[in-house]
Amino acid sequence: MKTKTRSSGRGQSRKSESMHDGNGLQELFEMELKDIYWAEKALTKAIPKMIKKTSSEELASALEEHLLVTENQVRRVEQVFELMDMTPKAKKCEAMDGILKEGEEIMKETEEGMARDAGIISAAQKVEHYEIASYGTLCSFAKTLGMEKGAELLEETLNEEKEADAKLSKIAESSVNEEAMHEESRMAT
Ligand SMILES: [Fe+2]
Repeated sequence: MKTKTRSSGRGQSRKSESMHDGNGLQELFEMELKDIYWAEKALTKAIPKMIKKTSSEELASALEEHLLVTENQVRRVEQVFELMDMTPKAKKCEAMDGILKEGEEIMKETEEGMARDAGIISAAQKVEHYEIASYGTLCSFAKTLGMEKGAELLEETLNEEKEADAKLSKIAESSVNEEAMHEESRMAT
């Protein structure tokens, strides 16, 4: 079946942001939204496990704060589904599943301390970068699809992910990495 052109889609009246018209970009948008919905929900379970394993109070409190932010992001994704008159539905995100498994591996293979914290930060930043890529794409799709409100919500989350990423870099670079290096040298002697 031939999909409608972008210009004809834009010309349609929009009482809600629902456009179940078989538009290819719309389908891709829905697919990616289900993916990030799964990812965010998985994170609400994974972040508490990371918090338990951290030694740095600064890192623990940054993760605790991001857990609350993430719970709100789950609700925000649900709002985007609702704007399209859709019931929120998750589809397993293989990429996030892999990143989280890698994070678990790091926590298993390191002793409690700053080296483990540096590893947790690296896993958390991979999470953030995946999310930044996903929300960036979703946001741009939403704009093209004429979903102004949806785009706004997605952009809010995108900015939160960028902030979280910057905060993690700051924690790593201001203390954790350096301390991990000294910890390693102590272990070696
Ligand atoms: Fe998130």
